[in-house]
Amino acid sequence: MNTSIQNAIETRTSVNNFQPDRPLDDGAIAKLVNLAAKAPSAYNLQNWRFIAVRSENAKARLKSAAFGQQKVVDASVTFIICGTLAAHGHLRTALQPSIEANIMNQRVVDAWVAQATASHEDNSVLQRDEAVRSASLAAMTLMLAAQGMGLGSCAMGGFDAERVAQEFELSVTELPVVIVAVGHPEISNWPQKPRKPLPEVLAIV
Ligand SMILES: Cc1cc2nc3c(=O)[nH]c(=O)nc-3n(C[C@H](O)[C@H](O)[C@H](O)COP(=O)(O)O)c2cc1C
Repeated sequence: MNTSIQNAIETRTSVNNFQPDRPLDDGAIAKLVNLAAKAPSAYNLQNWRFIAVRSENAKARLKSAAFGQQKVVDASVTFIICGTLAAHGHLRTALQPSIEANIMNQRVVDAWVAQATASHEDNSVLQRDEAVRSASLAAMTLMLAAQGMGLGSCAMGGFDAERVAQEFELSVTELPVVIVAVGHPEISNWPQKPRKPLPEVLAIV
């Protein structure tokens, strides 16, 4: 195994206490999202959007929608990671760069678009599942990227999705799946917590 990946997985913790007043510049935010967007998604839908909440005003609004969680303001930036619904409608555009890179041809793209449209078009449950899957994989990738950049992170599901959608003007096809605080951890944080014993969670069949 690539030891740097193993190291990132083994050292990542859910940071509760961040050093305040340690801003991240646009370049660092772009690097995090560039890496997060390397996450896989069904058909390469890339059905996600990242809102980097960094200004004092935006942080205060997000903290209030996140039941007052202080780390939203103390962290350098908190990402609202949205999964997008009805993403099959954008699939052709999303796959065009794969044609230009000579990875896929038009015939394959047409077939993928037809297949994704047939399965997603009238299936709101699948659209939501896909949005949650994609945004979750992107969130985990972003947290490992942060770890690799010497930063800490914390995923949060503790927020009022309706208020977040309102405050940050999400479109009706955007679902705020998870928010992820990223910044410089204080010394006082819990270490990574123990996990269940393997036999409880692993079946090899
Ligand atoms: C989907 C999800 C939602 C979470 N929501 C919150 C939250 O709202 N507030 C919080 O402080 N931690 C939250 N956490 C962090 C978990 O408590 C943490 O990942 C878990 O206790 C394991 O900690 P460790 O990763 O440091 O071992 C969340 C984690 C996940 C994956």
